[in-house]
Amino acid sequence: MTATLIDGKAFAARVRADVATGVAALKDAHGITPGLAVVLVGEDPASQVYVRSKGKQTVEAGMNSYEHKLDDTTPEADLLALVEKLNADPAVHGILVQLPLPKHVDEAKVLAAIDPAKDVDGFHVLNVGLLGTGQKAMVPCTPLGCLMMLRDHLGDLSGKTAVVVGRSNIVGKPMAQLLLGDSCTVTIAHSRTKDLAEVCRRADILVAAVGRAQMVPGDWIKPGATVIDVGINRIPAPEKGEGKTRLVGDVDFDSAVEVAGAITPVPGGVGPMTIACLLANTLTACCRANG
Ligand code: GUN
Repeated sequence: MTATLIDGKAFAARVRADVATGVAALKDAHGITPGLAVVLVGEDPASQVYVRSKGKQTVEAGMNSYEHKLDDTTPEADLLALVEKLNADPAVHGILVQLPLPKHVDEAKVLAAIDPAKDVDGFHVLNVGLLGTGQKAMVPCTPLGCLMMLRDHLGDLSGKTAVVVGRSNIVGKPMAQLLLGDSCTVTIAHSRTKDLAEVCRRADILVAAVGRAQMVPGDWIKPGATVIDVGINRIPAPEKGEGKTRLVGDVDFDSAVEVAGAITPVPGGVGPMTIACLLANTLTACCRANG
């Protein structure tokens, strides 16, 4: 058996096109342009790449992008003051503070300072609580993108057995909440889970979000299961030449593709959906702010 590939790149392009249509309609009808502010503290190369990509796609969708790049020695108080300024700015509908933050900054304090209505990452405890209690919330972008691909591929998820490997606040926990909201039977597995292979083999839907390259082999996968690989890991690729690297997921793609019914590739699966969902959340925040 060879799995169907779930094309996140094509799906994300459709989501971005829908957002662009919504943005244009909002401009025509009300003269409002959604604005997204992204705050980057420090020089982390991966974060710089993400932030550049976010800015470019925000503008391509017809929205305003405001980038704030701060030195990695910026005091916590200055960062909190910037967040307050963005909270009060009517041109800013979405605020994203790129994580991780430097060690001297209290991440929880900064996330708590963001106006929950502008929290397009869905990391504020109010949004976490709203999601957990099944109420209207800002939903974290990566799990939201995964859910959209699952619904698109499988239709109704109700009654399916879902296993999420990874318990991060950014992906694992909100992913589990979303699957529960769609009436799946959900297990959150993690590094201390006993018999992880056995737990994974029960899954109709397997979401791998542990951040460990190729950790989930094909023989952990139930034949025909739908596999969502959230991992983005860089590993050496000597076959491409000395010192070269390549991107792989948390799933061992070559063995998994022989067993799964459908799978997201890395790259080109979950990754592109994250920014597309960020744009969708910004449009949603703007619409809610303007009634
Ligand atoms: N760092 C890695 N992923 C994310 C994300 O989704 N949002 C933010 N703010 N920072 C991140």
